[in-house]
Amino acid sequence: MGQIVPLTVVILAAGQGKRMNSDRPKVLQPLAGRALLAHVLDTARQLEPDAITVVYGHGGEAVRDAFADADLTWSEQSEQLGTGHALAQALPSIPDEHQLLVLYGDVPLVKANSLRSLLRYGTGDEVVVLTAFVDDPQGYGRILRSADGAVSGIVEEKDASAEELAIKEINTGLMRLPAERSREWLSALSNDNALQEFYLTDIVAKAVWNDVEVAGLPVTSATEVLGINSRAQLAAAERIIQRRNADSVMECGATLADPARFDLRGKLTIGRDVFIDAGVLFEGEVELGDRVQIGPNTVISNSTLGDGCLVHANSVLDGVVAGPECEIGPFARLRPGTELAERVKVGNFVEVKASDIAAGSKMNHLSYVGDSSVGGGVNIGAGTIVCNFDGAVKSRTVIGDRVFIGSGVMLVAPLKIGAGATVGAGSTVTKDVPAEELTLARARQTVVKGWKRPVKPAK
Ligand code: UD1
Ligand code: CA
Repeated sequence: MGQIVPLTVVILAAGQGKRMNSDRPKVLQPLAGRALLAHVLDTARQLEPDAITVVYGHGGEAVRDAFADADLTWSEQSEQLGTGHALAQALPSIPDEHQLLVLYGDVPLVKANSLRSLLRYGTGDEVVVLTAFVDDPQGYGRILRSADGAVSGIVEEKDASAEELAIKEINTGLMRLPAERSREWLSALSNDNALQEFYLTDIVAKAVWNDVEVAGLPVTSATEVLGINSRAQLAAAERIIQRRNADSVMECGATLADPARFDLRGKLTIGRDVFIDAGVLFEGEVELGDRVQIGPNTVISNSTLGDGCLVHANSVLDGVVAGPECEIGPFARLRPGTELAERVKVGNFVEVKASDIAAGSKMNHLSYVGDSSVGGGVNIGAGTIVCNFDGAVKSRTVIGDRVFIGSGVMLVAPLKIGAGATVGAGSTVTKDVPAEELTLARARQTVVKGWKRPVKPAK
């Protein structure tokens, strides 16, 4: 049959995550730069449910605040008495005829398609549990099946016998339940177990007792249902999600020097024949045109680079818009508000902030350009600094087309440098500079004839 409707997704997210040893609620721990819960919500939304309820508790306000603008129902579980108790908190606001899909805030990698198979199963009267076969079942509840293959129960690790511990089919925690029956099953749960918690997993035995079919559907890839209880598992999940990111970037037309050393914390859009060297990190929204090449150990956040741009090793770009064929780095730092037109060159140890730089201009070594407008065909010599801040206010500098600025120049803003002007090396420029002339603002070189170096007096 088709997908069962109506549907409420309930996300259990109230646990503290003791094993993380963190002050942060577990579901706010970052995975690929976003909270665990954000990943689960994304997946839930892909199923287009009628409602999404999040059960929150530990660090509750922080969790709610992090998702303040999302269209969610919140159910508080003020004491964390177990997963069954958590689901019970959500039930009063859910209509009887709804199907419940239970997701866990700490199982973030599950794919919407795997959940769709749970939703498609049967007629809607069943309990459907997503299971997984794993080599190392440690830490998970084990799936018990009767002789006919139906699921007869789930036993938690702490309550399992030696024989049950050997079972390799585990409970992912994710399941589909009919809302009306769940009310009675949940109210009948007991906490007579190793953890003295009300286990959601005990609902299975109750359903079986009531002659309700319990189906166990194994997920295709166990990596999807990794539960995150420790920082080691968080790190393992990070590598899984980054491998998925790397695969999709390669599919779109990028060569990755090493897919295991690729990190994306946001959204990356790329053209064709892009090359990304080892150890590159992308954050926020990044767009790369055709044939862009990114050197190793580079960090690029919220930036757009035009076709054929070349970013050399160890550069840090944040909030940059670059036209085609620009060359950046190595060791360049481009900060928010940097706009480069085409064929601009920003070389090693150059920092640019809140500045627009027109076509073909170059600043190749050791410069700072801030709060400036730089024309086309400009050459800024090594070690030139735009002194944009006087300790109180920041001022702008405007440099015309074809200006040549020698090395080691201090440009004290506010300042205008006319088109075609030349500023001699070592100048400290405090007044506007006329177009097309040579301006020097430095002490003249003098020679003191016959001068002798002091010598040490004899002992
Ligand atoms: C649970 C399952 C286990 C399964 C595993 C899969 C139970 C009893 N056990 O164990 O069978 O193999 O997940 O990852 O269900 N939570 C609350 N309120 C609570 C307790 C937990 O909201 O009172 C939330 C947590 O925030 C978490 C989820 O429920 O998102 C699972 O809780 P956790 O304590 O991590 O359960 P596990 O021991 O991993
Ligand atoms: Ca868990």
